[in-house]
Amino acid sequence: MYQPEPFKIKMVEPIRLLDRQEREQRMIEAGYNPFLLRSEHVYIDLLTDSGTGAMSDRQWAGLLLGDESYAGSRNFYHLEETVQELTGYRYVVPTHQGRGAEQIIIPYLVRKGRKYVLGNMHFDTTKAHIELAGALAVNFITPEALDTSTEYPFKGNFDLQAMERFIQEHGAESIAAIITTVTCNSVGGQPVSMANMRGAYALGKKYNIPVIIDSARFAENAYFIKQREAGYGQRSIPEIVREMFSYGDALTMSAKKDGLVNIGGLLAVKEDEELFRACQALVVPYEGFPTYGGLAGRDMEALALGLKEVVQEDYLRQRISQVEFLGRQLLDAGVPVQAPIGGHAVFVDVGRILPEMPKTQYPAHAFAVALYLESGIRAVEIGSLLYGRDPQTGEDGLADLELLRLTIPRRTYTDNHMRYIADSMLKVCAQKDKIKGVAFEYEPPILRHFTARFRLVD
Ligand code: F0G
Repeated sequence: MYQPEPFKIKMVEPIRLLDRQEREQRMIEAGYNPFLLRSEHVYIDLLTDSGTGAMSDRQWAGLLLGDESYAGSRNFYHLEETVQELTGYRYVVPTHQGRGAEQIIIPYLVRKGRKYVLGNMHFDTTKAHIELAGALAVNFITPEALDTSTEYPFKGNFDLQAMERFIQEHGAESIAAIITTVTCNSVGGQPVSMANMRGAYALGKKYNIPVIIDSARFAENAYFIKQREAGYGQRSIPEIVREMFSYGDALTMSAKKDGLVNIGGLLAVKEDEELFRACQALVVPYEGFPTYGGLAGRDMEALALGLKEVVQEDYLRQRISQVEFLGRQLLDAGVPVQAPIGGHAVFVDVGRILPEMPKTQYPAHAFAVALYLESGIRAVEIGSLLYGRDPQTGEDGLADLELLRLTIPRRTYTDNHMRYIADSMLKVCAQKDKIKGVAFEYEPPILRHFTARFRLVD
């Protein structure tokens, strides 16, 4: 439904569309990898919703209240109180971003030969940290998520039965943790239901496995629960958020999403003092003293304020409906997208648009290249390129879905931008037979999609 913005615009940042010839030149220079384009050469940047949103006037004002003391900054205490109130967790450690929290807690959990970290679907940095720590990341996403055409309301859910079977087969002592990612980025910003979060936590308790909530988009998940899950329609977003976090022992958060800030992260522990002490000891060498953890005082202030703004329902309603507005235009024109539309992005099922192209030519990446050439829009592949190779066999082309993510920054683009994006997508789809696959010129060994270079395959 049509939802006008609950804000007005006080400052603008000009953006410019290069002409076609220049776009072609820039893409060649970038080795056919949109990550390697300079942002000044991009017209509408849909690479990520991470750190790309607009802060409010209050957050900008908060920057001036930064207390840059090395230890005991008052902004830390404001942030700590805000997180305690929001989540019910006792111990709060700031980190420079989400992966800063991951690099601390994951190696600690993976100690003593615990070989597996189970998740609904791990994000790529989470998977990388699990593998760097010497463990294996195993996904138990509900099968509905892998069919983009079915309207299942909670495609971020765990297949709890499959996860329990795995625990029984491999022994609980071999499992380092269960990570519940809300919303589940890798399958389309799809929510996890409260019942499913409760179920995952119950398994954690039954088998004595810690449950960590990867909470980058916790508020969007809460909004979907309110909209879609029986019994939650009358509950406030803060109440729903509190209940969600009750189904975890600790959280990691990339605050660059629902923290509404450009940089920042969090690690928080509900009540396990031993876990907290271990994390606190590790944060010092990796991130910084425990009351700043890699952030300036002013960043912590902006984050404390952002965490209060993001749970406001009028903000969330407009946020989610703008993404829906874009997704609907594509669906109505017959473009296959992950349905229902997710929280932070529209995920286009390029595997269904380019079914003939081999997965090892990365169809969704090839589509992203074509979209930039057509329109100056930068989008990102979430498919076999991002998934990477099997760490044991080196096999490639393994992702279940070849998706193109049109990621919408928060409070940044207007609905007219959404119309331009939809029109451009339709133009590329109309010329899909001309899209060429890509092959590596350079393939980095880890997180390869960020810095790889390609050539077009004829
Ligand atoms: N967990 C999830 C679910 C994420 O989506 C991300 C980042 C991280 C952890 C890592 O956080 O970037 O602050 O270190 N996702 C971004 C994205 C990069 O584009 O989806 P970070």
